[in-house]
Amino acid sequence: MGEDAPNICEMMAKLYGELPRQGPGSAECTRKAFSMVRPLRERPYVLDIGCGTGGPTLELARLMEGRIVALDVFDWALNRLSEQAAAKGLADRISTTKQSMMEMDFPDETFDLIWSEGALYIMGVGDALRRCGALLRPGGFLVFSEVCWLQSDPPGELREFWEQSYPDIKSVSENVSLANDCGFEMTGHFTLPATAWWNEYYTPMRKLMPELRRRFADSPHALALIAENEVEMALHEKYSAWYGYEFFVCRRPSLQ
Ligand SMILES: C[S@@+](CC[C@H](N)C(=O)[O-])C[C@H]1O[C@@H](n2cnc3c(N)ncnc32)[C@H](O)[C@@H]1O
Repeated sequence: MGEDAPNICEMMAKLYGELPRQGPGSAECTRKAFSMVRPLRERPYVLDIGCGTGGPTLELARLMEGRIVALDVFDWALNRLSEQAAAKGLADRISTTKQSMMEMDFPDETFDLIWSEGALYIMGVGDALRRCGALLRPGGFLVFSEVCWLQSDPPGELREFWEQSYPDIKSVSENVSLANDCGFEMTGHFTLPATAWWNEYYTPMRKLMPELRRRFADSPHALALIAENEVEMALHEKYSAWYGYEFFVCRRPSLQ
């Protein structure tokens, strides 16, 4: 990438930073998943892994009275989240930390709830389950959304796309088994509706594309990233019956 790297960083900040969310999701789905987190102490200590600009984080802060540590690797995302938290009067309950999920340095048994929408694939769901299991207090919850196969016989074009972009993609039942194998009890799970892909993610992204193509016309890597997103959207329009995002709500068992 070399000298194109600053363009990529700027383009990512411009593209993803402008979107309400940086992946499929919605306030309704965040609320539905949170309603499945019971019992939870009155003022829980919460970690949001891969928070982005904080669509889910801000919704969580409205849903409960605890404090949230919002973790991501990009300054542009964390800065945007801090600005919004301040504007909404939530700054005293949301703090940000620039840290990779691969190197989280919190002590074991720190959190009552760990939340992560569309981000745990970055460390791999199995590793994430094990790491989060250690960071949760006994009885604490891990809630995450993850892209999954919804049917077992995907068309070749779609299978090839996922083999390239995320070869570790699993079915819903494989993720449930993995969570159980890692010591969690699965409280429940549900598939995100089509609106959660479009309203706050693909539709606003599609609107930004022409301007981004003009602005980054001299950056081959930025143009390639734009093209990748367009391919992803076109595949989703064609094949959304075969894969989707699943919200998983799982609990580290309490001590007996
Ligand atoms: C698909 S986005 C989801 C963002 C947000 N949770 C949402 O639903 O809008 C994935 C997020 O993970 C962040 N990320 C990427 N690599 C990371 C890492 N190593 N550690 C922590 N966060 C990371 C990205 O910056 C991005 O904000």
